[in-house]
Amino acid sequence: MRTLPRADRTVCLRRPNEARQARPADRGRVASEHGLLYLRRTSTKRVGRSTMPPGQCIDGTAALPTGMPANMLRFLERLKPHASNAQPGQSNAEVVRHMYRTLLAREPEPEALANATAWLDSGASLDALHETIVTSDEYTGQHPLAHLDSVYRPRNISYFTYRGHYRPLGLSIETVNICNNDCIICPYSSQTRRRQTMPMSLFEKIVSDYEAVGGGPITLTPMVGEVFLDKLLPERLKRLRNSPTISRVSTITNATMVSRYSDEELADIVSYFDRLTVSIYGLDAEEFRIMTRKDRYQAFREGLVKLLRVAGAKKVGLGARHLKKRSDAEIDAWLQSIADDAGVQRSDIRFGGTMQYANWSFFDTSTQLPFDAEWTPQPENREQCALPLISMQVLSNGSVSFCGCADFDGKTELTIGNINDRSLGDMLNDERIRRLWNWQKCGIPEFCKSCSFHMPISALKDLPGTFADPYGTFGG
Ligand SMILES: C[S@@+](CC[C@H](N)C(=O)[O-])C[C@H]1O[C@@H](n2cnc3c(N)ncnc32)[C@H](O)[C@@H]1O
Ligand code: SF4
Ligand code: SF4
Repeated sequence: MRTLPRADRTVCLRRPNEARQARPADRGRVASEHGLLYLRRTSTKRVGRSTMPPGQCIDGTAALPTGMPANMLRFLERLKPHASNAQPGQSNAEVVRHMYRTLLAREPEPEALANATAWLDSGASLDALHETIVTSDEYTGQHPLAHLDSVYRPRNISYFTYRGHYRPLGLSIETVNICNNDCIICPYSSQTRRRQTMPMSLFEKIVSDYEAVGGGPITLTPMVGEVFLDKLLPERLKRLRNSPTISRVSTITNATMVSRYSDEELADIVSYFDRLTVSIYGLDAEEFRIMTRKDRYQAFREGLVKLLRVAGAKKVGLGARHLKKRSDAEIDAWLQSIADDAGVQRSDIRFGGTMQYANWSFFDTSTQLPFDAEWTPQPENREQCALPLISMQVLSNGSVSFCGCADFDGKTELTIGNINDRSLGDMLNDERIRRLWNWQKCGIPEFCKSCSFHMPISALKDLPGTFADPYGTFGG
């Protein structure tokens, strides 16, 4: 970990170990007038909704920021138009102040401000300053992930830390836990929770609490339920769009219930989403009926066609949940007929599929699924699971689960509180989180031991895109 540019540690940016820590490609010269390291990097990386081209600078000296939370990047981008009128050092001083405020929740000491500004003026990249702060003891403190070497790396830390505290990469909000289907692979009808639509006031509180821990991506995919059954959906989406800290909004839907909306209304709704994924529960009426226990294949198909027609194939991905093994030719013919009816190009449709299903730590995997489908073999999980880092889930009654993926009844040891009673920030700082993030020392939650959604945390190091776009990588 590094030392911050603080008044009492003004030599920290000159320390020789800075040069050793930098990757060879980042190493530069030491700017003589300030005695500060000169680091420059010109890679490009997509963060939130913004992509900055290589070498683009805020004031002509500081190089492209990478690996920063979307809200910070947006702030830094806003400085650009003023940079040409700025006095030397003026916008860099503002950058330094903003980084201190956002990351450390405090003002920089005057001397630290002067040092860090001079460092940027001399050509140091925003990345270098950002990295110095996020790897400092003050920032990271006793982070619950600090013992997990595979993910706790300088370039990732800011994605799951806000002002020194842990936060997940994204948040799932279950605005409704009512569904029009009852799939045989889903524990929807076995939940003992009251089926309800989340009140708007509760939704407001969740979003405000999320903003207070830095915001980021949100998915409205319910743990179990169907988002288009949520009567307050348009209102909620407007609230999300009005938040400068919400970087992406996505959802998974079974598509049938889009029939509730006119084309105009649907176009408005989808305009708020960055991405929608449709779960396809069968390519024919028989498969659909057996999978969903509802004889509504035609209504689903019409919903899918309508969504593709209104939103376009680029925004809507398709994820098939097959029971029957299908040849490429069969899938192609089906997709072509959908594309023709929707008036989109077949080649623009993103399509994936599976025939293997997770057990939700609930289903008896020794039972047979129909046709060619099968359960994922029941595992004996030992390594810390990555999925709570991708997302937490707030259920329709405000109950918050550490796991955004499998805790369908919200009554396990993964429940960390109710947002009606406590803020999300308080829950994230709780000792409980520390324990849940340390299976090795504190034990594996009973619900997680044989859950086949489990993904080992070490696997994230091979999926670097996860940090900037968790739902794009994992779905949601
Ligand atoms: C629980 S659903 C909620 C959203 C919506 N009702 C839908 O079905 O798309 C979210 C996603 O989980 C998937 N899912 C449900 N049960 C599953 C299982 N046993 N294994 C893998 N994915 C599953 C669904 O197919 C869907 O894509
Ligand atoms: S998988 Fe989705 S559509 Fe199927 S029952 Fe569960 S929540 Fe409903
Ligand atoms: S093992 Fe399953 S229930 Fe536990 S955190 Fe991972 S996905 Fe969630």
